Amino acid sequence: MPIIAGVQETYLRMRDKLKDVVPDFELQQKAELVFEILRLKAERRAVILGHNYMEPALYHTVPDFTGDSLELSRKAAETDGDPIVFCGVRFMAETAKILNPKKTVLLPAQEAGCSLAGSITAEDVRQLKQRFPGVPVVTYINTYADVKAESDVCCTSSNAAAVVESLNRETVIFLPDEYLAKNVAKETGKHIIFPMSHPAGLRTADSSLDYAMIGWHGKCEVHEQFTVEDIERVRQQFPDVVILAHPECPPDVVAASDFSGSTSAMIRYVENTQAPRYLLLTECSMGDNIAAENPGKEMLRLCSVRCPHMNQITLEDTLNALRYNRYVIDVPEEIRVRAKRAVDRMLAIG
Ligand code: 13P
Ligand code: SF4
Repeated sequence: MPIIAGVQETYLRMRDKLKDVVPDFELQQKAELVFEILRLKAERRAVILGHNYMEPALYHTVPDFTGDSLELSRKAAETDGDPIVFCGVRFMAETAKILNPKKTVLLPAQEAGCSLAGSITAEDVRQLKQRFPGVPVVTYINTYADVKAESDVCCTSSNAAAVVESLNRETVIFLPDEYLAKNVAKETGKHIIFPMSHPAGLRTADSSLDYAMIGWHGKCEVHEQFTVEDIERVRQQFPDVVILAHPECPPDVVAASDFSGSTSAMIRYVENTQAPRYLLLTECSMGDNIAAENPGKEMLRLCSVRCPHMNQITLEDTLNALRYNRYVIDVPEEIRVRAKRAVDRMLAIG
């Protein structure tokens, strides 16, 4: 029967790529789902975007494009596919809708959020703007559309310092990731203050604000858990290890690592260097995805730390998204237009 032959072919392709990272029985089970997703995707002329954190049997099979937040935003803006199925988290699917509003955008799991996006509201941003009038607001892409709408420009982990520098201003508000802000402040030579921990009287006229970044106490619930002690222990066991940390990690962790960059920058770093082993301080699935592409290199990762939001996106949910057109992402037009200005400004910076 042609369907069974198709599933078998899908399984063999998956086995070729994933035999060292996914057990064979799991590949056999998942091949049927992958085959059906690919069939429906073609039938519906859909496009699937997959973040680098997707589990390996999904990441290496169904997306038309994989990447970090910036790369996927660019793909979302230019794709002709409809619907856009976003295998990532809600703020990413919202960004796709902001950039390409005529397309139906589907997020396979309704609740796939993000602790950073959940850490700040549009009202919080309005209050900060009142407190620091005229100071430009840079917002990490890991925020919801109404927060982006209150911002001057967005940034991602791969362009945050460039975006801050492009403003050419002594003082900027940088929201909501405390650690990314501290890492960017270090890179751009600014000091950073947190108005929530300051008396309400702090104003832009204060000398402490010269060359300052004004931050917020949002944190990624995954990256905040990595410590310098983790690094020291791994280095003790494997003196030749190369350590890569996402810039959402605390600054002392980034400083103790060998490289810090966006998820795609970490992938490229491993591809372009020749160390025998790497430790990835980021969501664990990405280690499997890199291992599948780089068989000679050992990927160490601390898998007790997982992103519960990214992990909600499964092959089953992706199939159901295509079957039942769910879950449709909507952004009110008035918010979308203002949020798009901030995202477009970032995309123009490059
Ligand atoms: P990247 O933009 O580096 O892919 O990061 C997204 C994210 O949510 C990291 O936790
Ligand atoms: Fe959000 Fe952290 Fe998960 Fe990335 S890893 S989606 S920043 S909670």
